[in-house]
Amino acid sequence: MIAIAFRGLTKTYGKVPAVDNFTAEVQAGRVTGFLGPNGAGKSTALRCLVGLSRPTKGRTRILGKRYPQLKNPLHHVGAVLDSRGFHPGLTGYQNLRVLASVGGLPGSRVDEVLAQVELTEARNKRVKGYSLGMKQRLSLAAALLGDPDVLILDEPANGLDPAGIAWLRGFIATQAQAGKTVLVSSHQLAELENVVDDVIIINKGKLVASGSLHDVTGDQTLEQAFLRLTGGAQS
Ligand SMILES: Nc1ncnc2c1ncn2[C@@H]1O[C@H](COP(=O)(O)OP(=O)(O)OP(=O)(O)O)[C@@H](O)[C@H]1O
Ligand SMILES: [Mg+2]
Repeated sequence: MIAIAFRGLTKTYGKVPAVDNFTAEVQAGRVTGFLGPNGAGKSTALRCLVGLSRPTKGRTRILGKRYPQLKNPLHHVGAVLDSRGFHPGLTGYQNLRVLASVGGLPGSRVDEVLAQVELTEARNKRVKGYSLGMKQRLSLAAALLGDPDVLILDEPANGLDPAGIAWLRGFIATQAQAGKTVLVSSHQLAELENVVDDVIIINKGKLVASGSLHDVTGDQTLEQAFLRLTGGAQS
């Protein structure tokens, strides 16, 4: 089953397309790595997917629907995008409490997700006093509020310390075991290689490869395959 689809997605800012006629699919119940060099169009494509950016052409689907058409979207999709803004003057708990009530979710979910991302101790601290890694965990907690079937994570390891990255790896594996669909962008290829089933590689807005990890890498490491496919290899 296809959980996420990009169909001829094009997003142009000025003259150069950030995403250029991009078509790719994410299979349900699998972890898919979304890779590409800086500026390749990953965040733009993910923003289009969750309705934060309007495509110039083409379309995206989550569970067969446009994001705004999903009923109870928080139950279906959770996203961690770099743009997520928390209120700096409110505590982590208070920020999530607001999101839960807007989404019609019980307040009891807030402490559950804070525990899930190991942020319980910092729950009563104002977000302006959070480190980057703590904010990243809070974003993840927010994405988990509705216990969604599909998780969209844009560089979730950003700002995490080594223990945090190891924790994230376990977290993603647990999500996959529970049958969730995870689409995760990252530049940490050696790390990603341990958690993904499938990969999608984008370069200059265009699809360059997609398929199972093994189909895309062959006998190379993910980093070697990535550099070969995106023209970044030193020869
Ligand atoms: N709001 C915007 N206005 C103008 N140009 C933009 C905007 N957002 C993205 N771009 C441009 O679109 C291209 C793709 O950017 P995008 O952020 O999607 O790349 P990315 O693959 O997420 O990169 P990174 O790995 O650095 O996060 C870049 O050239 C970027 O400068
Ligand atoms: Mg990005």
